[in-house]
Amino acid sequence: MITIEHIDSIDKEFEDRISQTRDSVQIENLRVEFLGKKGKVTLLLRELGAIPSGERAEFGKRINDLKVRVESQILELSGKLKQATGAKKSDADWTLPGIKPVVGRSHPLTQTIRKILSIFTQMGFEAVDGREIETEFYNFTALNIPLNHPSRDAFDTFYTRHGNLLRSQTSTVQIRMMEKHKPPLKIVAPGKVYRPDTVDASHSFMFHQIEGLVVDDRTTFSDLKGTLSFFLRELFGSGTKVRFRPHFFPFTEPSVEVDMSCFMCQGKGCHVCSRTGWIEVLGAGSVHPHVLEAVGINPKKYQGFAFGLGVERMTMLRYGIHDIRLFFENDIRFLHQF
Ligand code: DAH
Repeated sequence: MITIEHIDSIDKEFEDRISQTRDSVQIENLRVEFLGKKGKVTLLLRELGAIPSGERAEFGKRINDLKVRVESQILELSGKLKQATGAKKSDADWTLPGIKPVVGRSHPLTQTIRKILSIFTQMGFEAVDGREIETEFYNFTALNIPLNHPSRDAFDTFYTRHGNLLRSQTSTVQIRMMEKHKPPLKIVAPGKVYRPDTVDASHSFMFHQIEGLVVDDRTTFSDLKGTLSFFLRELFGSGTKVRFRPHFFPFTEPSVEVDMSCFMCQGKGCHVCSRTGWIEVLGAGSVHPHVLEAVGINPKKYQGFAFGLGVERMTMLRYGIHDIRLFFENDIRFLHQF
């Protein structure tokens, strides 16, 4: 038969146990243990029938009070535990991989321009800017390009309605600099140039050049050779061989085209160098006396050299890119590789 002490001890046991309950599994076990089919409180109620009728009401009240308290305490605590774990779940899951921010980068042409400028500034050149809309004087006349030269033709140059043009070469900067500054001069000028070429894998109506100019009273053709050889070895590796081929440019005399040994086959001949072992990379020469005269510099006192290179071509060689159009399509999959 149950006794009041028995009920009290179950009561006390429940109070102890619930005070140590910390999670939803423990509280479910506690519920089964006290309120389940064979739970301690359930059994008390079942045994109520065996209590003499005179005491049954008092026992019934005690047991029922206990049951109500056990139920409400379990309910209250499981609510609290659920709230606590719910709050934790809404927090970030720190084990998930992070979201990488998209980090921008410089265009491969910009990277090449910066690299080339850094090589020349190391040698004491100053990087300067030019303008893209020019007059015939700066693009042709002052550069000793005669009126009957084919590049002056309206179909070979972009003219505006007012007789200006989009420069077809960065050599225009030579004239603008010499007009403004007295020798000694030592500049490099990167920028866009425009030609009405049909766009294909190796042609674009707009591309970039870097122009170089040195004018003083002592610079010779061997300075040109040394400067450009150093530049190409810095850019393409110290084993690069350089060769100077006689050529013609109106604004230089003598003029050369500069080739470097093929970095792919080391001069043996392969598809990159069209089996010649050499790759043409620059135009250069000693500044023509007519050019110096056009800007009022005495060619008897001053001399120097100039050069021009194509940035797209250099970048294609640096990275093994086969199609110039890739530079201008803004395809992130291409640009992301540099
Ligand atoms: N302006 C020439 C071109 O667009 C490149 C060039 C050649 C520039 C020789 C120079 C030079 O300054 O000396 O093809």
